[in-house]
Amino acid sequence: MASVASSSAPVVTKGVAKGAGHGVAPLRAGQGTSFLLRRLHSLSGIVPVGAFLFEHILISNSTAITGPDAYARQVSFLANLPLVFFLELFGIWLPILFHALYGFYIWYRGDGNTIEYPWSGNWMYTAQRWTGGIAFAYIVWHTWTMRFTGVDLHAYPNASFGKVQAEVFQTPLFLFYVAGLIAASWHFAYGIWLFSAKWGIVSGEKARKRFLVVCLAFFFVLTGAGLASLTSFRSRPQQPTEPGTAATQSTQATTNTEGR
Ligand code: HEM
Repeated sequence: MASVASSSAPVVTKGVAKGAGHGVAPLRAGQGTSFLLRRLHSLSGIVPVGAFLFEHILISNSTAITGPDAYARQVSFLANLPLVFFLELFGIWLPILFHALYGFYIWYRGDGNTIEYPWSGNWMYTAQRWTGGIAFAYIVWHTWTMRFTGVDLHAYPNASFGKVQAEVFQTPLFLFYVAGLIAASWHFAYGIWLFSAKWGIVSGEKARKRFLVVCLAFFFVLTGAGLASLTSFRSRPQQPTEPGTAATQSTQATTNTEGR
């Protein structure tokens, strides 16, 4: 017997949905006018939004583990990419906005009733919505504070480490960082599993169960790398946040290192 939470929610099959290997229907043409938007929503979660999250946590922010100068060099590299504003606009901000707004619409239209369908697939289904919501609140705040207020890090990348530190040294903000990290990592990791099921990339119960383990491992890798970066911000003394001071001190540090 098939139960459909709503026309826009994933089709779930009650009889076979124990465990996470079932319960995700493929996206099919003819499911209404929202078919193209559903496909775009699904795809945008992987590329470019997921690809960006991967780069942001595992590459860019991991350089903080090496130290303030390495971090400043990475920020400077990103800030000097050609047409960086348009890259951010079309490669990050608009896709995230689309994925988030359409995601809220799917959430609003869907049925996340965990009492009626008390198996893990449905808990995952509900968690996918809540983690998306928490990630959204975090991303809006994080983009506003890091990109649009305070020291302009594209103009003064040497102030980057200190600017992040000024936030993560405040316990409530640090906890918000941790919550945003865990929510976004879970959402992306389980999202890869959902995507693979919906697009028919991984099929069959056994293969899906195994792939779920891979996705869970990926969640721990993302979260672990993010926590390691946050720890390195918190474990070093506060670096300068003033553009002039930071630039001078960082340049001196680089010169000293090069002079050795
Ligand atoms: C950190 C940024 C985000 C990333 C990397 C991301 C990634 C993904 C991925 C890969 C999927 C699976 C695609 C699929 O269902 O086929 C997905 C699904 C979903 N996302 Fe996101 N997402 C992000 C933010 C958000 C936000 C802010 C929301 C707003 C609530 C959201 C709502 C949803 C929903 C509702 C689904 C499930 C769709 C379904 O079950 O059919 N996502 N996301």
